Amino acid sequence: MTDNVQFRTTRKDGNKGLQGSIRLPGDKSISHRSIMLGSLAEGVTTVSGFLNGEDCLATLNAFRSMGVDIVENDDTHLTIKGVGLQGLKAPKADLDMGNSGTSMRLMTGLMSGQKFDVSLVGDASLSTRPMRRVTTPLTSMGADISSEDDGTPPLKIKGGATLKGIHYDMPVASAQVKSSVLLAGLYANGETSVTEPAPTRDHTERMLRGFGYKVQTDGNKMSLQGGGTLTATEINVPADISSAAFFLVGASIAEGSDLTLEHVGVNPTRTGVIDILNLMGADITLLNEREEGGEPVADIRVRSASLKGINIPEALVPLAIDEFPALFVAATFAEGTMVLTGAEELRVKESDRIQVMADGLQACGVDAKPTSDGIVIQGKGAKAGVMSGGEINSHGDHRIAMSFVMAGLLADATITINDCANVNTSFPNFVEMATSVGVGVEVVAD
Ligand code: S3P
Repeated sequence: MTDNVQFRTTRKDGNKGLQGSIRLPGDKSISHRSIMLGSLAEGVTTVSGFLNGEDCLATLNAFRSMGVDIVENDDTHLTIKGVGLQGLKAPKADLDMGNSGTSMRLMTGLMSGQKFDVSLVGDASLSTRPMRRVTTPLTSMGADISSEDDGTPPLKIKGGATLKGIHYDMPVASAQVKSSVLLAGLYANGETSVTEPAPTRDHTERMLRGFGYKVQTDGNKMSLQGGGTLTATEINVPADISSAAFFLVGASIAEGSDLTLEHVGVNPTRTGVIDILNLMGADITLLNEREEGGEPVADIRVRSASLKGINIPEALVPLAIDEFPALFVAATFAEGTMVLTGAEELRVKESDRIQVMADGLQACGVDAKPTSDGIVIQGKGAKAGVMSGGEINSHGDHRIAMSFVMAGLLADATITINDCANVNTSFPNFVEMATSVGVGVEVVAD
């Protein structure tokens, strides 16, 4: 199924590039977790900088339907009246997680410890995504979960299970899996621990500590004891580095750019995109580095630079996992070959991001060859004749749509991007923000 929202790009002529200083919307991962932990805490939690996108609203609505009073003071400020870990009430209907894998996987962990039955459902894309990665460890903790035969949603979770702590050696480097198991561990007897094969985003561990819950990190092992309490706190959500990624790429490739992105989260488990762009020769500076509410934050200045193709170090893959669609655009306008390996996870995101990006780039004349676990892109520099205009199907994947908008800065003619409504899942005011710094993009909806 496709929606009727289309983006059309205009090539950036002249050498003024992207200019200005903007604050992008709040971090999606942190916003989800603020609702979850705020709802389960004792006392009133306030959240500022909340991402008012459809994914986080799916999480918010789920907790409202389980009896939590969440006041939206304005788009980005929330007051959450926590009910405590045992205070949720049975929802009257299925919990609709929309397009959001983070909601589905983290909620499965939390719902495994409740006294009531819950059914978690999602949209067409989410209904095809693998859930055994969470249901397998949760079942071994004692959770009672059923899914479709192939492990996909809907997930039906039976209430009243007694959970016991386990140690789980994660086969995939996934923050969603780590978080799901640790959140179930809040309800389990004894210790729950996970080891991860490579570092992944650590927002759950940081935020649990911010709510006064003890979480131990020992190398690649994280552990906690069940049966504690969360104490309400204040959360200030930084801007999302995953949203910043489009602008880091756009400003790097468009000649004459000098752009500052304010108050961006620069947690080292998320900054792989900066490391990769720097290895490609980008001109990115972190200014005013500080820590707010347990998360590192900085203003990021990016100026245009000549990029070169590189072999992406596999260790950086989980640290830039959501940023590859944008990085493939950077690679197109770099000189030389970019080789990505060890990134098979990209095939099970909101779309198969290896195939969908390769198809879109090829449709615009770019030499992009998908492989089982990555892609090889022959970059030809930031000049005319590298990429033609063309028509792209984003497959309802927000990050594909926004990446091709940045490609449109240098493409020879208009890129028409179909199926873009899902940009609202993570970046509701993307077109306005992009336009305000000089990106040529218009929305056509019929
Ligand atoms: C997320 C973890 C990542 C990421 C997703 C958000 C999170 O998924 O792709 O957008 O908030 O924990 P995986 O855990 O599947 O890598």
